[in-house]
Amino acid sequence: MSDLYEKYFKKPSIKEARKRKSTSTETIHIETPVNLKAIGHGKRYKLMTYGCQGNEADSETMRGIIERLGFTSTDSEVDADIIILNTCAIRENAENRIFGELGRLKQYKRTNPDLILGVAGCMPQEEQVVERLLKSYPYVDLIFGTHNIHKLPEYLESALYNKERVVEVFSDEGQIVENLPKIRDHKHKAYVNIMYGCDEFCTYCVVPYTRGKERSRDPRHIIDEVHELVKAGYQEVTLLGQNVNSYGRDFTDKTYTFANLLEALNNIDIARVRFTTSHPKDFDEATVKVLAKGGNLMPHIHLPVQSGSDKVLKKMNRKYTKESYLKLVNTIYKYIPDASITTDIIVGFPTEEKEDFEQTLDLVRQSKFEGAFTFIFSAREGTPAAKYKDDTEMQTKKSRLQTLNQIINDGYLRGNKRFEGKVVHVLVDGVSRNNPEILAGYSEHNKLVNFKGNQTLIGNIVPVYIEEAKTWFLKGRYHEST
Ligand code: SAH
Ligand code: SF4
Ligand code: F3S
Repeated sequence: MSDLYEKYFKKPSIKEARKRKSTSTETIHIETPVNLKAIGHGKRYKLMTYGCQGNEADSETMRGIIERLGFTSTDSEVDADIIILNTCAIRENAENRIFGELGRLKQYKRTNPDLILGVAGCMPQEEQVVERLLKSYPYVDLIFGTHNIHKLPEYLESALYNKERVVEVFSDEGQIVENLPKIRDHKHKAYVNIMYGCDEFCTYCVVPYTRGKERSRDPRHIIDEVHELVKAGYQEVTLLGQNVNSYGRDFTDKTYTFANLLEALNNIDIARVRFTTSHPKDFDEATVKVLAKGGNLMPHIHLPVQSGSDKVLKKMNRKYTKESYLKLVNTIYKYIPDASITTDIIVGFPTEEKEDFEQTLDLVRQSKFEGAFTFIFSAREGTPAAKYKDDTEMQTKKSRLQTLNQIINDGYLRGNKRFEGKVVHVLVDGVSRNNPEILAGYSEHNKLVNFKGNQTLIGNIVPVYIEEAKTWFLKGRYHEST
């Protein structure tokens, strides 16, 4: 075993991941351009991203670093010298898919023995995943987690030139790394991290373990980034955090809240500001009032509720009740009458009974959701809920999900119908997936809109008259008179 192998062998620890330091967060500034050897010159990489927007944003950073090393991107596995999977651990089926993908990728190691196969992101933050990778996937060369993306140049260099496994996962980490290069997926809309990690510890969720303690970025860094994006021609930013409403809670040197941040961004010349995800427990009236100012603050709020049963919410450690959630929803509609609210719901959480599920359905009806991501509970090793007694049949859970989805789909249609005969403004993303003659983009309320138009409109915000509302999208025509 070489020195390098020893140097990069650090496995995750769930015990460490559970710890929360009370110390303030250290921000590291990486010098750009990163002073690196062109180790990737003439070589190609493929990066595959799974999971949430947090992972998509991390992948943009990985691309930035990898391309600065001289690698060029490829979609072809046959041509790739490096393949990295940026993984998600949120539910069992997400992980199974990735293990399946690793099995499939093995063949490319046979045809190209120099191929470096890497696993990054949330899965390596889990002890049992790393054990399994080490034991059953010996052909994986590189394993690193969510806290050490900035060390990718060293890892790639030793994996490529040392030909040995690199395994390094930090568990108890609390840094913010600024100034890393990024290659963004889109040219006119961008993700902006405002915070990292999560301190909520909802009992079903792996994120507090895979992403570390909650740490907010300095508002100046966020605002500077948005100014840079404006200069580069960006029209829209989406602020990212697991609980954006607790932004700033960890500052020890200042009082600065999410409402303050939104207010600051409201005065910046970026056309659109979105954010995700909101936590009902911390969403205060001050934030609703700032959002009500409108302007570039878009009237769509994703407000995961998870369940409508107080008993289940308590077991989930969500720290709000059905009543307080509905009160918040009503406050939002009071200040922002045309707001579009969407949510996340888990069915079949341990101890959820028929009456609990009915409470969820009742809450869904009262909240007038215009969309939702719905899931069947998935037990995640290391989380408290994995040990809860769960005696509901899978068949019952599936039928609850189906019942729920029908009501949610009615909400999608109702939410879309209200724009029929109206003009909305669409940030044009590109051509429609199914028809290159049709343009596609999102309206202020985050509704997918398809319309016929010239491709020169891509990247612009344009008025579109809505002719017809479908469940999953709006059909319109370019409204030239405005
Ligand atoms: N931080 C966000 C999103 C976290 S993950 C929030 O608090 O809402 C996105 C969604 O995945 C969650 O809202 C939840 O509905 C779902 N989810 C998380 N863990 C899950 C699990 N173990 N089983 C099923 N769904 C889960
Ligand atoms: Fe998970 Fe809860 Fe944190 Fe969201 S708020 S990431 S559901 S622990
Ligand atoms: Fe998945 Fe990690 Fe995001 S577990 S949902 S990629 S924070």
